[in-house]
Amino acid sequence: KEDKVLSKPVEIYAHRGCSGEFPENTMAAFEAACKIGADGIELDVQMTKDGEVVVIHDEQIDRTTNGIGFVKDFRYKQLKLFDAGSWFHPKFSRQTIPSLQDVLDLIKTSGSEMKVNIELKNNVFPYEGIEAKVLQCVHQSGMADSVILSSFQFKSLGKIRELDSSIQTALLFEGIPSNIIEEARKVRANALHSEASFAVSAAGKRTIDAGYPLRVFTINQTDKLEAFRKSGVSAIITDYPGLFLENESVPF
Ligand code: G3P
Ligand code: MG
Repeated sequence: KEDKVLSKPVEIYAHRGCSGEFPENTMAAFEAACKIGADGIELDVQMTKDGEVVVIHDEQIDRTTNGIGFVKDFRYKQLKLFDAGSWFHPKFSRQTIPSLQDVLDLIKTSGSEMKVNIELKNNVFPYEGIEAKVLQCVHQSGMADSVILSSFQFKSLGKIRELDSSIQTALLFEGIPSNIIEEARKVRANALHSEASFAVSAAGKRTIDAGYPLRVFTINQTDKLEAFRKSGVSAIITDYPGLFLENESVPF
């Protein structure tokens, strides 16, 4: 009972925006997250041929646009011509692949307090220099205090820390690794982003006890929320924030 009183509410992050109901990683999906009152959004970034940081999950544009090919082989201007919404529903045909700058500016100007988790998708292509480009966008939008940079590529988080001593970073990993605190220390990361299994494991508890905020992806059912809360999980990252926000507001 004491645990419940002490534990903080679990924050709700919209995964790729409200991607359960809107085309993932589009302005429409992020605007929806703002409207619904999510605590944060998660988005994925890749880099174009001419060095623009763009918001899209896959290395290829095939699944989420009407185009074919790799993000790295297009110039930004060319990429903007593709429809990034119709694959999800025809009513989103005007959505395009956003730049990271556009999304950060949207959140900044919305006046919302939302956190932005920028996941660098540099585990397939290294995207030389992406760390500095992302930091440049973040500082340009005045969002440095609101972002968390994460990656499966721990080395990249080390680079970010060398470039910026205060920006929040998070190791992104799968499964239940035993040495994750060591890895976090190596690259001076601030937090951990894990799957549900880690969050309720002994290893997960050790990391939370060691002071690392733990955010869990991708949680689309409410049944484990109370267990996460009890474990001290800081946030869940979900395709359906509405499910949890409605849940949270139910009075006791
Ligand atoms: O950042 C958490 C989660 O988004 C990682 O997996 O494939 O959905 O980017 P993925
Ligand atoms: Mg992601």
